[in-house]
Amino acid sequence: MPFTIAIDGPAASGKGTIARALAREFGFSHLDTGLLYRAVGAKGGDPVQAAQSLTPDDLRRHDLRSNEAGQAASRVAAIPEVRSALVEFQRSFALQEPGAVLDGRDIGTVICPEADLKLYVIASDEVRARRRAAEIGADPSETLIALRERDARDSERATAPLRPAEDAVVLDTSELSIGDAVRFAVGLVEIRRAG
Ligand code: DC
Repeated sequence: MPFTIAIDGPAASGKGTIARALAREFGFSHLDTGLLYRAVGAKGGDPVQAAQSLTPDDLRRHDLRSNEAGQAASRVAAIPEVRSALVEFQRSFALQEPGAVLDGRDIGTVICPEADLKLYVIASDEVRARRRAAEIGADPSETLIALRERDARDSERATAPLRPAEDAVVLDTSELSIGDAVRFAVGLVEIRRAG
């Protein structure tokens, strides 16, 4: 049986960095599920059709990281038919041996409710805005507004809202270095794999 790690949390909380580090450490496959929604938003036209016809090339666009692409992703992600078009791909990705790490908003609650480890990664709004602004070269105060708007939409939508699974381990990275956050997560995986 493959080992599945579900990592959820608000925008720029550090979940992508932790997911990539865990995948590297354990030789697992990694899927940044936010990229799927960003690609659907960037395609334009009918979002449901865009989700149903998504190709690997759509995920390689260079304009998917901006605040605008994040906002467009958050808007199309509130459409139930868009979400259901992407479920199968994510679930089959999670079945890869020897394991897979998926990060997003609804991995522990909807996509992989049976995941072996669920992490819910958070950080203060200011820390998240500073990190994301530095990453994409945007203004920190505009990024703070964009993140808050996106988190509100992602948490308040009716279908698969952003929230921790009941059995998720909450990891607050506000005061942690990347190295410390990754070491903590690696330790959790080792404990679960041994058990
Ligand atoms: O992780 P990210 O910031 O790249 O995600 C962009 C948007 O996509 C996010 O604001 C909400 C949506 N999303 C989602 O609804 N469900 C997921 N599993 C991942 C992302």
